[in-house]
Amino acid sequence: MPAFTATAPGKIILFGEHAVVYGEPAIAAPVQSLEARVIVNPDITGSPGEVQIEAQDIGLAAELNQLEPDHPLRAAIAAVVSEEKFKDLPACQIQITSTIPISSGLGSSAAISAALIRAFSAFLGQRMTNEQVSQAAFEVEKIHHGTPSGIDNSVVAFQQPIYYQKGVPLEFLSISSPFSILIADSGSPGDTRKAVMAVKEGWVKDPDKYQGLFSEIGSISARAREAISRGEINQLGPLMDRNHKLLQELGVSTPKLDHLAQTAREAGALGAKLSGGGLGGHLIALVNDQVETPWERLLEAGAASVFLSAISGPFQSESGGPEGQ
Ligand code: PMV
Repeated sequence: MPAFTATAPGKIILFGEHAVVYGEPAIAAPVQSLEARVIVNPDITGSPGEVQIEAQDIGLAAELNQLEPDHPLRAAIAAVVSEEKFKDLPACQIQITSTIPISSGLGSSAAISAALIRAFSAFLGQRMTNEQVSQAAFEVEKIHHGTPSGIDNSVVAFQQPIYYQKGVPLEFLSISSPFSILIADSGSPGDTRKAVMAVKEGWVKDPDKYQGLFSEIGSISARAREAISRGEINQLGPLMDRNHKLLQELGVSTPKLDHLAQTAREAGALGAKLSGGGLGGHLIALVNDQVETPWERLLEAGAASVFLSAISGPFQSESGGPEGQ
């Protein structure tokens, strides 16, 4: 039995986070320079059911059966094969590595789940479609976020820019004019679960106000989709700025993210907003050819790191398979 490897990329949400949980559309794109990677190696000396999991980045080395039932890695395996069958699994070692920063709005949890689900199902000889991988990773996302919208698992499973709305068939954005996004780490971890809960509390207390904010965010996503399809990238800047303002009103930005957004705009970025759950995490800024000034200014303003990502697509998705094939 060969070793099986699968990867899944990081992601950014270009427009629509939080509102997407309430049924509004949102746009997300993979970040191919960041990836979670899972290798499943058969252990020919082991007995059935002996599944070792090693995730060095989080200091984890454990037997599958030692993990709590609601541990996300165990839940990802259970999304491929039911727990009753764990004892019959072919012995193997699962190695998980990731260059996606955790708790940062870059989709680390969904990418690890998707790569693990894809590699492990391939190892068992049950190749899953992107849709099946996405659905299985969605089940694991519920453990992380409580009420995920489904956007993270969709973008990392399909590895393509998407226009996502709950209950509506997934739409892949074909990007005729690729564009560049600077991604800046605010230096404080985000907290998606807490942010989603805070927004929910606000919505319960003042549904009219929150509904208004959600629908304006949704209409920004719809306008951004039109601009992207026409290749009118300059139009995205003001839409990002307005989206950030609305996220501030939802209470999920931080003074640091606001400062970085302002800095990026003053340094020539076409627009900037937080990306992901917020309360920390990453800022994204749309840039033209002049990337150096905003890049430097973001670092001077206290960003822990900054990197550039090209948004283009569709991409060729990498699926699980015998190593080297
Ligand atoms: O923080 P992230 O990268 O997991 O993004 C969360 C996006 C939200 O819209 C806030 C939640 C969701 O499930 O869509």
